[in-house]
Order: sequence, then C-alpha cells, then structure tokens
Amino acid sequence: MADLIIKGGTVVNATGTAEADVVIDGERISALLAPGVADSIGIDGNASRVIDATGKYVIPGGIDAHTHMQLPFGGTQASDTFETGTTAAAWGGTTSIIDFAVQKYGERVEDGLGHWHELADGNCAIDYGFHQIIGGVDEESLKAMETLVDEGITSYKLFMAYPGVFYSDDAQILRAMQKARERGLLTMMHAENGPAIDVLAAQLAESGKTAPYFHGIARAWQMEEEATHRAIMLSDLTEAPLYIVHMSAKQAVEQVAWARDKGKNVFGETCPQYLYLSLEKQLGARSEEWGDFEGAKWVCSTPLRSEEEGHLEAMWQGLRTNDLQMVSTDHCPFCMKDQKELGRNDFRAIPNGIGSIEHRVDLLYQGVVDGRISLPRWVELISTTPARMFGLYGRKGVIQPGADADIVVYDPNGHTSIGVGKTHHMNMDHSAWEGFEIDGHVDVTISRGTVLVEDGRFTGTKGHGRFLKRDLTQYLV
Ligand code: URP
Ligand code: ZN
Ligand code: ZN
Ligand code: ZN
Repeated sequence: MADLIIKGGTVVNATGTAEADVVIDGERISALLAPGVADSIGIDGNASRVIDATGKYVIPGGIDAHTHMQLPFGGTQASDTFETGTTAAAWGGTTSIIDFAVQKYGERVEDGLGHWHELADGNCAIDYGFHQIIGGVDEESLKAMETLVDEGITSYKLFMAYPGVFYSDDAQILRAMQKARERGLLTMMHAENGPAIDVLAAQLAESGKTAPYFHGIARAWQMEEEATHRAIMLSDLTEAPLYIVHMSAKQAVEQVAWARDKGKNVFGETCPQYLYLSLEKQLGARSEEWGDFEGAKWVCSTPLRSEEEGHLEAMWQGLRTNDLQMVSTDHCPFCMKDQKELGRNDFRAIPNGIGSIEHRVDLLYQGVVDGRISLPRWVELISTTPARMFGLYGRKGVIQPGADADIVVYDPNGHTSIGVGKTHHMNMDHSAWEGFEIDGHVDVTISRGTVLVEDGRFTGTKGHGRFLKRDLTQYLV
C-alpha cells in the first residue's frame, strides 16, 4: 500500500501543529492520519517503510530562495558546485533552492541562463529553480525578459551596487521594472548605493584602512537606506512589486515597513548572518592564523552591521512583525585560501559572500528555542513563505495531501554543533558559523519521497534534483 509512513510525530505547518501520521505514495504525500488510524485501517503493516517520529517535529523541507552556486565574483567563483552545495543543503534540512542564473554585462540573457542550466542539470541532490540576474539592462535584455515566465523563471534580480560588474542605474531600473510589471515578474533588488560606496571604499583604502573591517565602514547603513527608498519609489511609480534582498540595516527595514504600511507591494528578505553576526565581533575579528584578515570570512554585501546600534535586534523584530517576510542564506561561499586571500592587502578585492546553506533551518530553529519566533513562524520562514513568494506553494512549503513529499524530521531534543570537522559539508575551508551550538537536530531529510539524509548518513544522489518551473508569486495582486 503506502511507500512510506512517518509515524507518531507532530506535524508543523505555517498554520499550526497537529499530531498526525504522514502517508507517502511515490513522490507525494497521500494522506495525513490522526494517531491510531493507520493501525486501525491496516495501512501500517503494509507500508514498505515506517519512520518513527515520536517526540519529533515533521515539517515541510526547507526552501532556500537565495543561493549562488559557482557564482563568478572578483576573479574567482563561489566554491560550492551545484552538487556540493545541494548536498550540504540536504544535510541541513533544505530540499529546494532557488539559485541566481547570471547574465553578465555584454552577455545575452539566454546564454547566461542556458549556461546555468548546464551547470545544474544532473548535478543537484535536491530540487532547484532559478531567478535571473540581469547584469546589463538594454534593448536586448529587456526583450529577453519577456520569455522568462514561460521558462518557469518568475523573478529577476537587479543590482544598485557593484558598478562595472552587475550595476544598473536608475534609468535602467525604471525600464526593467516597467517590463517586469508588464510580464508579472517579481523584481529582486540588491539595494545599496554602489557608486557612493565605491568612493568611500577608495578613500578608506588610500588612507591605509585596508582590513576587512573597513568593508563594513564603506558600506554604511545610509547607503542601504537610501537605495532601499529609491527602489521603493521606482517600484511605486511603475507598479512593479519589489523584493529587497539580503537586508541588514535597521533603517532600510524601516523603509520597507513604511512602504508596506502605505499598502505598497514591497517585501523584505534578511539572512541568518544579519540575525546573529556583527560588525564588531566577526568583521572586526582577529586570529593567530590570519591577524585582522580573519574578518574576511564575513565579508559580504550588504555587510554585517553593528550590534551596538541595534541592527541585529531590528532584523528579529522585522521577522516578528512581518515587515520582513523571508530568511534566505545568500549562500555564496569562498575559501580563505586563494579566494578571500585575493584581498589580503585591500578589502575591496575580497570576494563577497558567506556560506550558510547547511545551517539556515537550524539557526532559525534556535530562534524558536530562544523565544524569538514561534514554531509555526519558523516553518513559515524556512519553507512556506519562500514557496508562496516564488510560485511553488502547494507543491512545496506545506505538509498536506497532494504536496511533494519534501519532509524533514526534526528532533527538538537533539543537538547540533556547527563547525569544520563536525557538521560541515559545504565546500569551504572554514565555517562562518564555527562554534555555534543548536538545541535541535535534522534527523531525516526526504525529497519527493526519497530519503536523502538519515542516521547521520547521506543516502541521496546527485541528479535526483529536478528543475522547478515556477508559477507567478501568490503574493502579488
Ligand atoms: O556578498 C554577497 N551578497 N555575495 C553574493 C552576491 C550578492 O550580491 O548577492
Ligand atoms: Zn546582492
Ligand atoms: Zn508595518
Ligand atoms: Zn545574493
């Protein structure tokens, strides 16, 4: 009869919790049964497999909607391949990612997208979709945006930062948003004032302030607040819904809150690093091995911000008030050796990014333990909202009959010690999360009915993961 039953657990959806057994047939969930029903109707004895989830949470698999496998950046590329990155994701209870296909300036969007399919196809352990980075808005790329929805790509990203690399000016943003409005695409924005930041960064470097810490000083919160506001107004004008990625500044979140309170179609994403890591402790860190270059491990954009100034607390508050709706990792790992090291003498040359794909589900669960968010809100943040926001809900993001059997059995009495040599499967020579302790544990990860991780073993395969053609977001009017 059933292929798999997950028995005795507490099913947690974004809507609440229920004691229920989850019945899986093939790749999908076929039923949720009240305790005892499986025995009484005799499904139990006939199931090919039963997983005992007594005392554990049964949750929809994590969806990490912001990753950068193999992203070319600063003369190198992100160190996780689709294989290593999605395998690490599975270890950490994530069963879908949405990665960013890249159109570099001067390249055709179709070619960039085609290249991304080549990189991912046959290499992923979990399901994957794409957003499209538009690195050069012009007649040709605007035309190419017209067919993205047909390809299952319903969101795209622009950069107000990184002049000369991915940067778009206001005129380009305006034109792209007009096209997005026409086609129903969601505009994702890297909101930092790149040209002003580059001046500040050059002034710091020229005065001898070359350590990683000054990356955070150059990328001042005013640069994020200003760009966030500018993006909101361009979105308002064009009536193109807007999603601000990787937010870290308290004042930028206030801009999103203001826009939402005015009824504007604006959404905000933050990342685990902006909830837990700071300018003072991490970006300003020193070690015996690296001296003040230790901070390079945490060079990312937007930067880690001051805990003293209240930015970290403001991110948690945004999650509680739903002024921030999303937590993705912005997973963009680089090794210290040969990669971050490129900026040993000048922070401007440090490739930007932190690797967290393996730890997002755990790090947010710690927010439940610490009394910052509720259990259903945890599930909403790790799975349900990303599914709704990016056109996957129903298939993904919920435990209900008909949904893909993407399921994690999470043990609230387990423990996870994060660090290299402990729980570290990302292709990095260090962990940005070294020494973090989590009062919970991912016991089992299941993707479309196939067990990927169990009893501390990876039983998945590269190539199991399929491309997700996504629908339009369910949040837009
Ligand atoms: O530092 C970051 N965020 N690296 C990845 C590229 C981006 O801007 O998202
Ligand atoms: Zn970005
Ligand atoms: Zn509000
Ligand atoms: Zn990113």
